Amino acid sequence: MKKSLIKISWPNNIDTFASEGDNWFSTAEKAGLEIPTGCLTGSCGACEIDVNGETVRACISCIKGVKGNNLNVSLTTDPFWEV
Ligand code: FES
Repeated sequence: MKKSLIKISWPNNIDTFASEGDNWFSTAEKAGLEIPTGCLTGSCGACEIDVNGETVRACISCIKGVKGNNLNVSLTTDPFWEV
């Protein structure tokens, strides 16, 4: 079965497309963004992003499809993401 593409809207107003199961870090790079990292084991929270209002630790999760396949990503606290 063919996977449908998921549209991801980034805080810099760039949209990219990914498939379910894709890695958050490489997908952010396609939008010209870098998700901060720390432990890469899910414990420090440095890589937290907000996906459709839900906090996700990018290092221990992958892109998941939702109804409508449209994800809005933001990060509210890290000034790195303020564009
Ligand atoms: S890098 Fe530490 S929780 Fe993801």
